[in-house]
Amino acid sequence: MARPSADPQALRAELLAWYDGQARELAWRVGPADGRAGLRQDPYRVWLSEVMLQQTTVPHATPYFLKFTARWPTVTALADEDDGEVMAAWAGLGYYARARNLLACARAVARDHGGVFPDTEAGLRGLPGLGPYTAAAVAAIAFDRPTNVVDGNVERVMSRLFAVETPLPDAKPELKRLAQTLVRDDRPGDWAQALMDLGATVCKPRSPLCTCCPMSADCAALAAGAPESFPRKAPKALRPHRYGVAYVLTHDDMLAFVRRPPKGLLGGMLALPTTDWRGAPYAEVEALALAPATAAWRHVGEVEHGFTHFTLTLQVYRAEAQADAVIWRPRRDIDGLPSVFLKAARAGLGNLL
Ligand code: ADE
Repeated sequence: MARPSADPQALRAELLAWYDGQARELAWRVGPADGRAGLRQDPYRVWLSEVMLQQTTVPHATPYFLKFTARWPTVTALADEDDGEVMAAWAGLGYYARARNLLACARAVARDHGGVFPDTEAGLRGLPGLGPYTAAAVAAIAFDRPTNVVDGNVERVMSRLFAVETPLPDAKPELKRLAQTLVRDDRPGDWAQALMDLGATVCKPRSPLCTCCPMSADCAALAAGAPESFPRKAPKALRPHRYGVAYVLTHDDMLAFVRRPPKGLLGGMLALPTTDWRGAPYAEVEALALAPATAAWRHVGEVEHGFTHFTLTLQVYRAEAQADAVIWRPRRDIDGLPSVFLKAARAGLGNLL
């Protein structure tokens, strides 16, 4: 655990001095020298950069940030824009839900707060789409509030500094508590940004540059000899295996499809008729009894598929017959199937495709 020598005041002084000399120059940042000269951060720019950086890296976000702030220099200008224009400008940053939240937040600030961002963490949390991380970051960076700003980078720094043995994700509350022990009223915005910069440029995930680290003398993971082995990670859970039967039923040039129930895996999608997927294989008599039509079914093969939470083996049966309660469509419509069923359809149709 924490090194006995890890005095919070000394750690803070080391990192803040490093930040004074090494802070990255970022499009949205008021650097430490300008800050001392009295330049204030614009909360709109801080908020916009934080939302973009949740989505992507600094190099990818920077041109978007410059484009947005040139076109919409204030939160009210953004709030007044049409949804379609903002969505189009966001394209390439991923997740449109974020862009929608961005607009909802800008409009709430414009409408409910007179175009002025609330200046506390609690006030910021009341805005649409502002989660705990963004509220803490904006409160610290824009308003110098002593909040605890913890993202993945900061978790990594804390896990190393204190050699936290608890694996992620269980370690998250502990890492947050440890980060809190270093927060003070003195320069909270610079402190948050210094930790971010250290995590991004020095305390890197795979190959930390410990010789450049201002806190290396106090780092318990470095003292233990393997800083890159932190944060500890829980071993990946083994995925369970499931079994099922898929039926490739044709009638002339038509193939039998079904529509999956709206809720659940592949909900609402087009599919092949299939049994439930369960922990034990189906015997042939069961496969025949559960088939979507009485016909001369032949076992023609099996396919494997990996889903996020389980793997699946589907036995594929094939027959030519009429049936009700299925959707008849041309065989070429298999192109619209999710890949698990596409594999089964190909196995069943073979050279009849
Ligand atoms: N990553 C997320 N927010 C950041 C910020 N304000 N500065 C640098 N890196 C960041």
